[in-house]
Amino acid sequence: MHEWTRVASVSEIPANQLTFWQTEVGEILIYYSGDRYFVYPSRCTHQDVPLSDGYLVGDALICRRHGAKFDLKTGTCLRAPARSNLCAYLSAVWDGSLFIHPTQTNENAACPEPMTIHSYRNAQVSVDGS
Ligand code: FES
Repeated sequence: MHEWTRVASVSEIPANQLTFWQTEVGEILIYYSGDRYFVYPSRCTHQDVPLSDGYLVGDALICRRHGAKFDLKTGTCLRAPARSNLCAYLSAVWDGSLFIHPTQTNENAACPEPMTIHSYRNAQVSVDGS
């Protein structure tokens, strides 16, 4: 059973930059902007390659392999050849650290499939630092 996993101290996560972190669920990317944390698996939905060599244009990530574009504030795929959105992990800030729940998705994310697991929605946590 997956539990909340600490990723990093929030002081280690710069604003308005892409950062990549190794976790027990694999590499993830974090985009911290507007006082919110957007956390995704670091895998392109086109050919499942790492997104760690991607780059930012505004709030969008461009996959360097074939140029797919993803809105990092929603996960929405904005440009082919990818067709599926990125699906954000549920995240929360506790005691100065960012945690993710690897089996939970952010309710504001544009996931490729309907989100089915939301048992933590009523938990006493501060989701996405809000
Ligand atoms: S692998 Fe990312 S656009 Fe093709």
